[in-house]
Amino acid sequence: MNQKSGQNSLGLDICFEDEANPIVLFEKWFALAEKSEINDPNALSLATSSSEGIPSVRMVLLKGLSEKGFVFYTNFNSKKGKDLKNNPNASMCFHWKSLRRQIRISGKVSMVDKQEADDYFNSRAYGSRIGAWASSQSQVMKNREEFLNKIKEYENKFPDSKNVPRPLHWSGWRLSPGEIEFWFEIKNRVHERLNYRKENGSWIREVLYP
Ligand SMILES: Cc1cc2nc3c(=O)[nH]c(=O)nc-3n(C[C@H](O)[C@H](O)[C@H](O)COP(=O)(O)O)c2cc1C
Repeated sequence: MNQKSGQNSLGLDICFEDEANPIVLFEKWFALAEKSEINDPNALSLATSSSEGIPSVRMVLLKGLSEKGFVFYTNFNSKKGKDLKNNPNASMCFHWKSLRRQIRISGKVSMVDKQEADDYFNSRAYGSRIGAWASSQSQVMKNREEFLNKIKEYENKFPDSKNVPRPLHWSGWRLSPGEIEFWFEIKNRVHERLNYRKENGSWIREVLYP
């Protein structure tokens, strides 16, 4: 028997703490990654799928985490933005090379509320806020000059760095997790995998073959 939880032991004593809540376990692993990654421990690959079921994947940065889910920000008119408006199912994958660990998360996204998006937008550097206006993310540009001119145009339009409104097409999505899987590398590929899936509002833990 597992002493701490009173449940049958899952036999994962090497790396997994006896944690019933995967968000808490995520935070513990993330704190380690913040110490050991050379940069961007909050970088994750985000997979979306079009309404026709065509997948696509790209990196984004995790900018918020709570029991409600995992938040990232982007241009809602981008490829991923269009995918998510038509199909809210998404999946995230963190890989921390320095730790040899992976975390995979899947669920449905919803938009963060206006105040949360404004607060985050206002915390960004002036150049990043101007960039959110100037970049028609994922659209074809004629040439680089067109983009650089748009940056100048918005710098002229919003010269006060304390007063750049958030463009309506720029906001955050929150992925509410239905499943979170932790993967830990072990010699000879005897890796450990622990999957949490939500059933009737409770997290079920299961060990998976590597
Ligand atoms: C490490 C890293 C972090 C990134 N973070 C973001 C982000 O938080 N939001 C974003 O919109 N794009 C981010 N990007 C750019 C995206 O990967 C992608 O090029 C862009 O969002 C357009 O994607 P789409 O055409 O699939 O919508 C990041 C790229 C890298 C390499």
